[in-house]
Amino acid sequence: MKNKRFERRDFLKGAAAAGAGLALPGRVLSQTAAKIKLGLMLPYTGTYAPLGVAIENGFRLALAESGGRLGGREVEFYKVDDESEPAKATDNVNRLVTRDKVDVVIGTVHSGVAAAMIRVTKESGTLHIIPNAGVGAATGALCAPNIVRTSFSNWQPGYAMGAVLAQRKSVRNVVTLTWRYAAGEESMKGFKDGYSKGGGTIAKELWIPFPNVEFQALLTEIASVKPDAVYSFFAGGGAAKFLRDYAQAGLKDKIPLVGPGFLTDGVLEAAGPSAQGIETCLHYADNLNTRRDNDFRAAYAKAYRMQPDVYAVQGYDSGLLLAAALKSVNGSIDDRKAVVAAMEKVTVDSPRGRWRLSKAHNPVQDIYLRKVVGTENKYVGVAVKALDDDPASIAACKMS
Ligand code: BEZ
Repeated sequence: MKNKRFERRDFLKGAAAAGAGLALPGRVLSQTAAKIKLGLMLPYTGTYAPLGVAIENGFRLALAESGGRLGGREVEFYKVDDESEPAKATDNVNRLVTRDKVDVVIGTVHSGVAAAMIRVTKESGTLHIIPNAGVGAATGALCAPNIVRTSFSNWQPGYAMGAVLAQRKSVRNVVTLTWRYAAGEESMKGFKDGYSKGGGTIAKELWIPFPNVEFQALLTEIASVKPDAVYSFFAGGGAAKFLRDYAQAGLKDKIPLVGPGFLTDGVLEAAGPSAQGIETCLHYADNLNTRRDNDFRAAYAKAYRMQPDVYAVQGYDSGLLLAAALKSVNGSIDDRKAVVAAMEKVTVDSPRGRWRLSKAHNPVQDIYLRKVVGTENKYVGVAVKALDDDPASIAACKMS
């Protein structure tokens, strides 16, 4: 997909057509200031394409709710399809940072792509909001004042799932099967940290390269090991295929499958009955049933004619965080220090529940245990309250 430039006018048309019911701002702080340039670098093709679309939808909804402006200023969008392809990431982010000279980069989904982006935005000092990718280094060894994450670290939901299973006496040994790249590896580490604390052991670690979905041989191996449970990190189209293959291999009713919530979020329609009953941990669930979440879900469904998922929430929260910070600096986006200081003070009133950035700029948040029932990832309970990042990542972040 080529870069696309979207004027606010286009967005208003699009969102109105989608029934967003937009209100223009009550108070325009600066009629003459230049438009704020927003660079979206997300996957719009490949296995993570629906995640990129949901993030953009959520972001645009938050923007619409602030009258289509940020800090009183109009905005314009610049878009790059990153294809979840780390080898193209440096060129892609440079299109936004060097060529288009955007004020803010919002991206991305894939941890490997995000790691390459960070190297560029850290160097240039461009404001960078990560609306999904959980790569630990973003808020660990590579942390920087201008980089904030509105989603999770890969370690967080993994750790929570491990802590939940550790409490179950019937689950003493687990096989892990995940994509072999930063997200899978770090999710696995989180799971191991939580699970081994409670005395559980990992019977076997199985890996498959991203975005490969040929699971058959690995499923045969799982059947022969016969663990008490399987922990898996997959997401998007790959997760739907894995859930179907796991059920088709006859494992679903014999060996419980668990994972971080990406395994079942946004894929329930594609996975069909094979997802039913699967338990996962995540910072969002489909029926939190708070007023805040219900309002968000109704607005999202009205605007886009579909239900939101965790990725939509993360995009929305990215918009909320940016809007709140720019409001408090009256749209002065060039004063990056002031914008970051403002972001650090914001409590995001998110559909997932209120959260704030840690010192390393990762959300500190409740992680929920959920279970797939019908078309929803239903809330079961709080798995871990106010969870910060992996202590090793926190220690590695030297914010200067
Ligand atoms: C990641 O690469 O960090 C990631 C991708 C999809 C879902 C969750 C994490």
